[in-house]
Amino acid sequence: MNFSQLIHNRQSVRKYSDRAVEAEKLRKLVEAVRLAPSACNAQPWTLLMVDAPALKDKVAQATCSKAFGLNKFATQAPIMAVLVVEKPKWTVRMGAWIQRREFPLIDIGIAAAHFCLQAADLGLATCMMGWFDEKTIKKLLHIPRGRRIGLVISLGYAAPGYPLRPKSRKDIHAMSRYNRY
Ligand SMILES: Cc1cc2nc3c(=O)[nH]c(=O)nc-3n(C[C@H](O)[C@H](O)[C@H](O)COP(=O)(O)O)c2cc1C
Repeated sequence: MNFSQLIHNRQSVRKYSDRAVEAEKLRKLVEAVRLAPSACNAQPWTLLMVDAPALKDKVAQATCSKAFGLNKFATQAPIMAVLVVEKPKWTVRMGAWIQRREFPLIDIGIAAAHFCLQAADLGLATCMMGWFDEKTIKKLLHIPRGRRIGLVISLGYAAPGYPLRPKSRKDIHAMSRYNRY
């Protein structure tokens, strides 16, 4: 797959088959996150791959909201990837303070994109989830108090026949300009 095809093929998948993900593919996904760029090369993340079935189910359940009908699909996915935001080193903290920018969150977003695009290239399906019960997942995975969870990503093989949807996006003129806002 060339990169443009990969961008078109990656989509949020909300129905999974129960096929297990091969260990070699998991290794490649971890490597894709490891190689992601970050401000001052701080790499402010820990990637937790949750594949122990009972624990994985509990993490998936902690992404579901009955009230808003969100993320029920997550329980079907065989793996939950959790990106923990690590404390940035002092150079990043100083830069962030001067620039008034949250570099670690930007970094986590890039790392998540690496993960999801690599997954798509391996024929795997993902969905990034920003809605989750952070307190519960932190407890389940023994994440230290001072840390935040950036994103949870469901991972697995898409259910057979899962369609590739057309992208619903802003018009190119509404989201980009040359030389002037
Ligand atoms: C930071 C972030 C948080 C998201 N949170 C959720 C979520 O909690 N549940 C969900 O079903 N999709 C979630 N999504 C997926 C978006 O809805 C999806 O990326 C968007 O609609 C575009 O569709 P596509 O990913 O299929 O191209 C999230 C995406 C991002 C980048």
